[in-house]
Amino acid sequence: DLFRQRLSRGFGGDGPTDEGASQRFRDLLDLDRTFAAFDGGDIVGTGAAFTFDVTVPGGNPVAMGGTTMVSVQPTHRRQGVLRAMMAHHLDEVAERGEPIAGLWASESSIYGRFGFGAATFRHEVNLDTAAITLRKPEPPGRVRLVDHDDAEPILRALYERMRTVRPGMLSRSDHWWTHRRMRDDESVREDKSARRYAVYEEDGSAHGYATYRQKEEWEGFFASGEVDVIEAIAVTPEAHRGLWQFLTNIDLFTKVEWWNAPVDDPLPFEVTDPRRVQRRLWDAMWVRVMDVPAALEARSYETDGALTLRVEDAFRPATSGTYRLEVAGGEAACRRSDGEGEVTLGIDVLGHLYLGGGSAGAMAAAGRVAGSSEAVTRLHRIFRTDAAPWCPEVF
Ligand SMILES: CC(C)(COP(=O)(O)OP(=O)(O)OC[C@H]1O[C@@H](n2cnc3c(N)ncnc32)[C@H](O)[C@@H]1OP(=O)(O)O)[C@@H](O)C(=O)NCCC(=O)NCCS
Repeated sequence: DLFRQRLSRGFGGDGPTDEGASQRFRDLLDLDRTFAAFDGGDIVGTGAAFTFDVTVPGGNPVAMGGTTMVSVQPTHRRQGVLRAMMAHHLDEVAERGEPIAGLWASESSIYGRFGFGAATFRHEVNLDTAAITLRKPEPPGRVRLVDHDDAEPILRALYERMRTVRPGMLSRSDHWWTHRRMRDDESVREDKSARRYAVYEEDGSAHGYATYRQKEEWEGFFASGEVDVIEAIAVTPEAHRGLWQFLTNIDLFTKVEWWNAPVDDPLPFEVTDPRRVQRRLWDAMWVRVMDVPAALEARSYETDGALTLRVEDAFRPATSGTYRLEVAGGEAACRRSDGEGEVTLGIDVLGHLYLGGGSAGAMAAAGRVAGSSEAVTRLHRIFRTDAAPWCPEVF
C-alpha cells in the first residue's frame, strides 16, 4: 500500500481509494519485477516491469520488459534516484534475456539518456461528424452493440489476429484482459458512459470492433455529445469502414475523439474531406535495445542488404561496439565485428528505428547518425517497414 500511495503521490494524484483498489493493484504487479528506492524506512522512488511479448516487423513476438510505474518523490528529485533505479531495472531485463525494454514516457526528455528511442507514434484524431462523409461503396456487413459480458471473447480473438501482423502490439494475459481492458467500474469512467462494444460482422462472423464511451453534452439546446474511442481494431477494410460509418453517425453525438490511431490508419482516405480528420502526432511507445544481435535477428526486413553499425551506449557501455548486420531473404544475421562501422548511432536511435517506423535519414539530418549518405540511405531502407508500428495502449 505504501508503494501504491507513493506512486500516486509521485504523479501528483491520490489514486483510487475504493475498497478493492489495493487488491487490484497487487494483482497487476509482478512482485519479482517491482522495485523501490528507500530513504530510511520510507519509499521515495517506485518502478516496476511488466512482462510482454511485443510484435516486431515480420510478426514475431519478442520478449520485452515493460518499464512502468516510475516515480520519484518531489523531495528527492534530481539526486540520481531515477538513474539508480534504471540501472537496476535494465540489469534485471538483461538478466532475463529480454532483447528489448519498452515504455511510454510522461515526458519525452527523460529516457533518451537511458538508451530509449521513440519507436511508435500515434495520431490523436478529432472529428466533427457533421463534416464527415464516408466514400462509397457501403460496407456489406452490420455493426452490432455487444453487452460487456459477451464482448471479451470477440475482442480477444480479433486483437490476437491483429497482433500477429502489426508491429508494436503487445501480448495481453488473461489477467491483463480482466483488469486492464474489461474492468469498467465508476472509477475508470471519468464521468463518461460505461464502455460500449461495437462489433462489425459479416455473415455472422466478427471482423472488427471499437470500444468507446459517450459523453452527453449540450450547447444551449443543441446536442454536442462526444464519442470517445478507446480502441478500434479492424482486420478487413470493410470492417474499418463499417465501424467508422457507425461511430460518425450516432445521433446527438457530433464529436468523435480517438486518442490513439496508427499513423497510417486509412480513415482520412475513406472520407470525402480528409482534412476534416484532424490529426495530432505524438510519440507513443519507446524502445530500448538491450541485446543488439538478439534484437536485430528477431525481426525481419523488407529490404535485403548489409551494413556495419557502430553503436554507442553510454548508459550500458558493454553494449557499445561495432556490429555487422547481413539481411538475406528478409532474415538477418548479426554479430559483433571490428572496425569503425559505416554508420555510427546511439542505442536510442537504434531503438527509434527498431520497429520499422523510424527515419534514419531524419536522424542523420539531426546529427544523430553519422555516415556517408549512401550508408545512411542503406540503414534507412533496411530498417524501415511499410506498415507503421502501433502500440494501442499505455502501460
Ligand atoms: C521523472 C522522474 C522520475 C525523474 O527522477 P529523478 O530522480 O529526479 O531523476 P534523476 O535525478 O535520476 O535524473 C537523471 C537524469 O535525468 C534528468 N531528468 C530527470 N527528470 C527529468 C525531466 N522530467 N525532464 C528532463 N530531464 C530529466 C536529470 O536532469 C538527470 O540528467 P543527467 O543524466 O544529465 O544528470 C521524477 O521527476 C518524477 O517522479 N516525475 C513525476 C512522475 C513521472 O513523470 N514519472 C515518469 C513516468 S514515465
